[in-house]
Amino acid sequence: MSTTSIDVARRRSAELEHDLLADPGRFRVLTGDRPTGPLHLGHYVGTLANRVRLQTAGIEVFVVIADYQVITDRDSVGDVRGNVREVLLDHLAAGLSVRDGSGVPGATVFTHSAVPALNQLVLPFLSLVSVAELQRNPTVRAETAAATRRGSGAAGPNGLLLTYPVHQAADILFCGANLVPVGQDQLPHLETARLVARRFGERYGQVFPEPEALLSAAPLLLGTDGAKMSKSAGNSIPLRADEDETARLVRSARTNTERRISYDPVHRPEVANLLLMASLCCGRPPEGLAEEIGDGGSAALKHLVTESVNEHLRPLRARRRELAGADDHLRAVLAAGNAHANEVADATLQRVREAMGMTY
Ligand code: TRP
Repeated sequence: MSTTSIDVARRRSAELEHDLLADPGRFRVLTGDRPTGPLHLGHYVGTLANRVRLQTAGIEVFVVIADYQVITDRDSVGDVRGNVREVLLDHLAAGLSVRDGSGVPGATVFTHSAVPALNQLVLPFLSLVSVAELQRNPTVRAETAAATRRGSGAAGPNGLLLTYPVHQAADILFCGANLVPVGQDQLPHLETARLVARRFGERYGQVFPEPEALLSAAPLLLGTDGAKMSKSAGNSIPLRADEDETARLVRSARTNTERRISYDPVHRPEVANLLLMASLCCGRPPEGLAEEIGDGGSAALKHLVTESVNEHLRPLRARRRELAGADDHLRAVLAAGNAHANEVADATLQRVREAMGMTY
């Protein structure tokens, strides 16, 4: 992704932020996660809190738990049922109101595999995108290179990896979403979704609005090892971790030997990242926190980070513990989300059949 297109997306996101507050009824949000493990602090500050904010602003929200996307770059689905449950719990604990079948309105949380009509949209959509366009997608290229390095799959990267941005276009377009809160790495996929919407309209008549990316304003948190915070890298602070585990994880974080703490993202990225973590949790600027710690060194820094993270997550974790015992409720939420997603997808597929002249 070039810096100019990121700048353009950032500027457009600022405009959208203004519009969505002025007229939330005009927007429908779809976003989601792969169920590869429980969500972490980076997800919370970067995406989960934002989803709750958009809902609170009055926007209808759809969340896909993208179970088919799990097998784009690995051979096994792992404990997909358990992971879907964890991701759902994280959303509920973060304060998202969800449909649960009781008639109370809320976000629609659903899984790919439970919504056949959504998946069927992928077939006509694939015909709208060239193989060369798929191969140029920078995120897919990076993921392909990583899968090749890991030696995933006997025959190298699989076909679903190459085509998943089109599947993701179906996630977005099946419910007519026009706003997709995502991180920078997802911008190429949004371009694919826009392309599919536009080309479908040119070929068969307009059915889908062109969705727009809403880039998160939150800065990117790194993991405790200074690399990208990721569910699978063992460098994250899971939302479901308890306070002692959080303390342990923070204690193991990489820092450097210079005793005086300063906020210098370029020269001391790991220290800066810890300061940022504390800052996002306690709402004070990282420079001020660094000054306060001064000569206290990494021990004092880590103490501050642990306290801030634990305090910030305390209410969320309490809710999470309570909900973790409510299996019937969790099942009801997924059943209600899947049922509603199916209704919406069936109606969309019917319009697609009509537009394509495939009604028999
Ligand atoms: N690819 C996204 C991720 O890895 C998850 C996802 C699946 C998604 N479908 C989506 C995000 C549709 C936004 C819109 O995080």
